[in-house]
Amino acid sequence: MLTFPDDFVWGVATASYQIEGATTEDGRGPSIWDTFSRMPGKVLNGDTGDVACDHYHRWQSDVELMKTLGVQAYRFSIAWPRVLPEGTGRINTPGLDFYDRLVDGLLQAGIVPFPTLYHWDLPQALDDEGGWLARATAEAFAEYADIVATRLGDRVKNWVTLNEPWVISHLGYGSGEHAPGHTNWDEVWPVAHHLLLGHGLATERIRRSVPGSNIGLVLNLEPQYPASADRGDVDAAGLADGYWNRWFLDPVAGRGYPADVVADCGWDQSEVRSGDMDRIASPIDLLGVNFYSRKVVAASEEPMVSRAGERLEEAETTAMGWEVYPAGLYDILVRVDADYEFPAIWITENGAAYEDRIVAGRVEDDDRISYIRRHLQQVYRALQAGVPVLGYFAWSLMDNFEWGRGYTKRFGLTYVDYETQARTIKKSGEWYSRVVSSNRVRLS
Ligand code: FCB
Repeated sequence: MLTFPDDFVWGVATASYQIEGATTEDGRGPSIWDTFSRMPGKVLNGDTGDVACDHYHRWQSDVELMKTLGVQAYRFSIAWPRVLPEGTGRINTPGLDFYDRLVDGLLQAGIVPFPTLYHWDLPQALDDEGGWLARATAEAFAEYADIVATRLGDRVKNWVTLNEPWVISHLGYGSGEHAPGHTNWDEVWPVAHHLLLGHGLATERIRRSVPGSNIGLVLNLEPQYPASADRGDVDAAGLADGYWNRWFLDPVAGRGYPADVVADCGWDQSEVRSGDMDRIASPIDLLGVNFYSRKVVAASEEPMVSRAGERLEEAETTAMGWEVYPAGLYDILVRVDADYEFPAIWITENGAAYEDRIVAGRVEDDDRISYIRRHLQQVYRALQAGVPVLGYFAWSLMDNFEWGRGYTKRFGLTYVDYETQARTIKKSGEWYSRVVSSNRVRLS
């Protein structure tokens, strides 16, 4: 048995657009995901987040569900278009009230709220003005962050600014798989810069308005391994690491953008103004790491930015087709700690989609238990190696809208019947509940 530190925090995670539904209620403005999910062919089966898990109406029973699981913390996201329907300016009080009630409900249940300010649902009004291509969006984000932190900061200690700027910039503006669906790789760099600037500005604003807050951002880190020891493969993996990981880690740590990627991607940095890199490097208290898989990279003539990376033929994969490679979590944690020494690391997402079947009211998802157990073993190894990992959030509390895959991919510890909105705790949820209460994970 592996026993975790006494104060290790066990949680579950979700995000607003993926669970809330009620997209037109109480004054919420439209978001880019409302628009994108309505474009033919963008989301599988034409699914949208209009209803999702109906969490907006069912939040109280969802907090009860968390109590049943016994989790100690809940990572959720706040929908910017509920708080500021036009993105800036007019505050929609009923939208803010929703999160106020949720935070109170969580605290009453003894669950620590861990909000993320931006998990991809940009107000459509801001996209109409250029979205993250526009520098003004970074400023609007800081204003929004300040409004939320000022309202909730008497009860919320931990804040995440952005969720996965890599995904937002690369999939939203390069490959077009995510909202707003642009397909121009040259947009990725200004977008990533404005995202990071927004993170830095928001961090400074929250720190000023709510002293004593712990603030950070969440990156989807993915280790990049060379396909062989050949020089070409090793160099390609190094560059892939730059695109995927260092592009965000380096500037946040005050080192600017990595020179190898700048040279390779051809960005002239004309969007970078004096003072920006200092804002971006505003000290953070925590780094959130989302971990799902790894990549194996071989030398190729193809431009690195648009390459998907290889999957090993014989590798074990999840229903997303993502390779299961738990040791990659240990590798990336140890390396990030050694290279950057952030004060604290949280695993803000980890989990897997499988072909769950509900049979006689039960979901026997042993594959998910195995996935999470093996990753927790690696978190334990990282703790032993001295990495300051303070907590772990399983993705996800419940099945939900999995972006471009719609409702076809289930990541939940709880099964959601989208016809009836019934929640059924899966075997993995029962198992996770025992991990939380015992603070222990079996070795095999
Ligand atoms: C991450 C997202 C999260 C979820 C998981 C499966 O990239 O942050 O919302 O969709 O992937």
